[in-house]
Amino acid sequence: MRIIILPTAQHVANYAADRVVDILNTRSNPVLGLATGSTPIALYQELIARYQSSQVSFQQSVTFNLDEYIGIPDTHAQSYRTFMNHHLFEQIDIELANTYVPLAETTNVSELQRNAQEYEVKIQNAGGIDLQILGIGVNGHIGFNEPTSSFASRTRIKTLAESTVEANKRFFSDDEFQPHLALTMGIGTILESKAVLLMATGQSKANSVKAMIEGPLSAMCPASALQLHAAATIVLDEEAASELTLKDYYQWCEQKRQQLHEGSWV
Ligand code: PGA
Repeated sequence: MRIIILPTAQHVANYAADRVVDILNTRSNPVLGLATGSTPIALYQELIARYQSSQVSFQQSVTFNLDEYIGIPDTHAQSYRTFMNHHLFEQIDIELANTYVPLAETTNVSELQRNAQEYEVKIQNAGGIDLQILGIGVNGHIGFNEPTSSFASRTRIKTLAESTVEANKRFFSDDEFQPHLALTMGIGTILESKAVLLMATGQSKANSVKAMIEGPLSAMCPASALQLHAAATIVLDEEAASELTLKDYYQWCEQKRQQLHEGSWV
């Protein structure tokens, strides 16, 4: 794991944007894995700004989102399709037909299972994901892979943890149906991405970040599966990094890495 600790959430977003732009500018058909939630919004704003200043184009890119709620239409204000259209896709030059979010409006189980399998095939047909952006839940989830999710899991139906439903309650009005099920990429699916970049900001993530980086490999902390990925970068603000035992070491590693790249390490 490469662990990068930066002063603020905006620095985290800038770093993530640099990584995304690098993929977009160096691959002929870049494939991005995208995430919803509060954390990546600052990244998307940064990408929009770079698009507007002609630093990057999304015309050739394909995107796959991690997850979608089951049982609400794509057009629902709280669907992840709506989130992505609003926070990113409608403000850049991407072909909407090249943006994929799991199809989960139906509540028919066999249809959902078919959609899940087809999602895996679409990812493979696109050549796999070059860079998967991730957030982390306070319970250590990635995508909607809640604690006890198999590290070998593929895109599938998942029941949300109570704490996740609680955390997302703020987006639904009292009389509105809030889904308790989702279609999510599996941990096995995520681990097949060529590179992953997990962003975490704020004090509320400090414990799950510690469990992911310094805890044992455990299905109780799904994000700990990233310890198995050969190209995983974890980018944190100071607050999210505040519980790390080896924080100074990670900062020292980054300093050394920079010196190595500059040729000034001896
Ligand atoms: P958040 O969600 O960015 O809204 O904190 C992260 C997640 O649950 O994956």
